[in-house]
Amino acid sequence: MQRYPMFIDGSDHAPHADAWFPTDNPYLGQPWAEVARGDADDVDLAVRAADRAGTTGPWAEFTAAERGALLRRLGDVVAEHATELAELEVRDNGKLFAEMHAQVSYLPQWFYYYGGLADKIQGAVLPLDKKGYFSYTRKEPIGVVGIITPWNSPLMLLIWKLAPALAAGCTVVAKPSEYTCASTIELARLFHAAGLPDGVFNVVTGFGDPVGAALVSHPLVRRIGFTGSDGTGRAIGAAAARELKHVGLELGGKSPNIVFADADLDAAVNGVVSGIFAATGQTCLAGSRLLVQQEIHDEFVSRVVDLARSARMGDPMDAHTQVGPVTTPPQYRKVLDYIEIATKEGATAALGGAAATRPECGTGWFVEPTIFTGVENSMRIAQEEVFGPVLVVIPFRDEAEAITLANDIRFGLAAGVWTQNLPRAFRMADRIRSGTVWVNTYRAVSYMAPFGGYKDSGLGRENGMEAINDYLETKTVWINTDAPVGNPFVIR
Ligand code: NAI
Ligand code: MG
Repeated sequence: MQRYPMFIDGSDHAPHADAWFPTDNPYLGQPWAEVARGDADDVDLAVRAADRAGTTGPWAEFTAAERGALLRRLGDVVAEHATELAELEVRDNGKLFAEMHAQVSYLPQWFYYYGGLADKIQGAVLPLDKKGYFSYTRKEPIGVVGIITPWNSPLMLLIWKLAPALAAGCTVVAKPSEYTCASTIELARLFHAAGLPDGVFNVVTGFGDPVGAALVSHPLVRRIGFTGSDGTGRAIGAAAARELKHVGLELGGKSPNIVFADADLDAAVNGVVSGIFAATGQTCLAGSRLLVQQEIHDEFVSRVVDLARSARMGDPMDAHTQVGPVTTPPQYRKVLDYIEIATKEGATAALGGAAATRPECGTGWFVEPTIFTGVENSMRIAQEEVFGPVLVVIPFRDEAEAITLANDIRFGLAAGVWTQNLPRAFRMADRIRSGTVWVNTYRAVSYMAPFGGYKDSGLGRENGMEAINDYLETKTVWINTDAPVGNPFVIR
């Protein structure tokens, strides 16, 4: 079986303890490769390499313009290898090739955008209230950045952090999810071959404990960028606070998709179905709570059910497949557990409600697209993130109730609003407490548009120009040009 060692200081690195673990193909439900099982010593090696590279290596001597040029080259490398990287993602996480290929093909834009920004990072000359001083600020790289990613979109969620980190001049140690390490390792090899100096981008593989935990607590790591579950996010936030590190947390959601009776219902049906069943519901921004205005409830739900029922399941590499497997065995059990919880709470499965046993699903971990009606917003199935192909439907009377229901949840990652009433669209966009609101669309993201969560959905924003500041420190320099240095005992 193929083996993936770690990538540290510019070369493949066998695990310190020579331990390996299998990684599965979710469509076959079987292992396809072995991955290095790192430990705290491997993390230490990688962080020290990153620290050296950022302070004394050639990377530290790169001008901002040179960093920008190299980032644009890295974008080209991703574009040139998009097909093989997408295939690797599919083998390891079971998402559709069509989705992964589109996603990977979009990722070069992050390197072009932040590459373009690299030589526009500038401090300021300060207009002071004191005479005889010249003062200016410098924007300096924050240092070693630890990046911890989940299994649903491994390369995308890495690159959202990696591109601005490199543009700022930082160095990186990445720890991919133990379920999906291969693509991150392959990317590090490709980037090194393309001229990224040794130690600038290191990959340590293994489990959250010890590898992720060691990265978070390592004294030379200055920032942690994390995407994943809110439980792990809290633990990382607490550890980062203890160590006084910067931290960005992109956590889960239970995002409402809100359909008013005045909406273009054809568009809304498509938006609702793609909002939850694309990616088998395994996205942080899934529109997993459908709020429908009462007078169209029955008609709208039956249209959503019909469209979802038509989804073809099967091999994610097959261009005709529309819903793929669940990525991991624990996730498969979690989704089935939530279906049981919903049933016990009194919800009715208008569609699905079980593991998928269709012949085309083979031995993979498939769950039938599931839609629950008769749901109260207070039920667990309405409040907790399932992270699978499970949609709940909740009726509402009017705009005021829609807003109350939308906000009555501890998450605040995203929301969709479907209406043809323009003033209503603006009112809804103002009042929903979430990091993104889509009107008459769903799941649009861009390297130019900030993304992140309100409330328990996280801390900080990724993408857009401001994200670069997360990877920079501001230093203020004072130079005495003509001020007397007088009586040492009087503070002025
Ligand atoms: P997780 O949040 O535990 O794992 C994400 C990453 O954190 C992995 O790389 C993991 O190894 C690492 N990690 C785990 N414990 C750590 C620790 N103590 N210190 C540092 N790093 C640590 O997510 P998991 O177990 O893969 O999935 C569980 C649930 O998380 C899913 O059921 C889903 O609800 C949610 N999830 C949310 C995602 C999002 O995009 N917001 C993505 C994937 C999962
Ligand atoms: Mg896998």
